[in-house]
Amino acid sequence: MTSAEHFDRWYAEMTSSPAADDLVRRTLELPPDLESTSLLSGPGLDEVAAFLALRPGEVLLDLACGRGGYGREVARRASCSVIGVDFSAVAVSQALSRGGDFRVGTLEACGLPDASVDAVMVVDALQFADSKPAVVGECRRVLRPGGRLAVTCWEAVDPADETVPRQFRDLDLARRLPEAGFVDVSVADRPEWRVSERRMWEEALATDAAGDPAMVSMQEEARRVLAVFERRRRVLATASVPETVRPA
Ligand SMILES: C[S@@+](CC[C@H](N)C(=O)[O-])C[C@H]1O[C@@H](n2cnc3c(N)ncnc32)[C@H](O)[C@@H]1O
Repeated sequence: MTSAEHFDRWYAEMTSSPAADDLVRRTLELPPDLESTSLLSGPGLDEVAAFLALRPGEVLLDLACGRGGYGREVARRASCSVIGVDFSAVAVSQALSRGGDFRVGTLEACGLPDASVDAVMVVDALQFADSKPAVVGECRRVLRPGGRLAVTCWEAVDPADETVPRQFRDLDLARRLPEAGFVDVSVADRPEWRVSERRMWEEALATDAAGDPAMVSMQEEARRVLAVFERRRRVLATASVPETVRPA
């Protein structure tokens, strides 16, 4: 597992790099003040928001929220409230600096009560969990009947391909979501999202990173990602909790 301390350092570096934030926002076509630490583009975010179809007064959980940009934006569009949870205390404190309800917790144990939220989004973070079934189960636990889940991630084109890190090979959401009791499961490829993704990595590599630790770390990641770019597929997984839960 990539540790919370690793992410704390990552987020601390990012505050000192408006250049990295600007590059991400521009290449991913994001709203001007959205703080992303992932690869979800503006059009991708529109799709997530459309699927979650939040109504005013409902509650959204942005699980592994980072600095909270995506959850805040989805909630703003729907006039609903958002709770963000992440295991990086630094990310949570950066999210809190803009106000709102952001808490330290993990993908597997977010700390919210059973059946307490109407929608959950997990943007580009599920791959970091040791146990994917535990995270999917946690999403199911906190959702109310009729609740919606949207997950964006990457899966291996060939799960047996060991050049793709294991964290992407064991996602298998088409199997895990129904196993956890979700219905109306869709795990759809989104090749069109990869155009802006590739653009982001290539522009990062073409940038002069001198003296900018966030940009240096982005360039290191760009090299790793581009080396196996075609061996991963971009996925949007959506699912719902049945309206009425049958007694066991
Ligand atoms: C690539 S970032 C995405 C952040 C945010 N969802 C976004 O799209 O801007 C991955 C996030 O997952 C969080 N994370 C990784 N493993 C976690 C875990 N086991 N529990 C909670 N958060 C975790 C990291 O701290 C980081 O904020």
